[in-house]
Amino acid sequence: MAEPTIPQKTPYNIELEAGDYWWCSCGRSANQPFCDGSHKGTDFEPVKFTVAEKAKFWLCGCKHSADQPFCDGSHNNLP
Ligand code: FES
Ligand code: FES
Repeated sequence: MAEPTIPQKTPYNIELEAGDYWWCSCGRSANQPFCDGSHKGTDFEPVKFTVAEKAKFWLCGCKHSADQPFCDGSHNNLP
């Protein structure tokens, strides 16, 4: 399993409108925490999620969460 790039070792606290989003799992996007297509040629695919109504989220920035696209605290276990 390929290792993702780590843009940051903390989550992105972000307010999102209702709609569909694609979270970047590879860590290579220049538009974190969202996919910008830079995963092309890697083993990674973006993770689609839907927001039902406007709310705040903690989206994983370290790309090691077991609950993608959300932060599950796994960033605390990174070296
Ligand atoms: Fe990272 Fe698309 S750019 S998953
Ligand atoms: Fe990735 Fe918290 S930022 S698990």
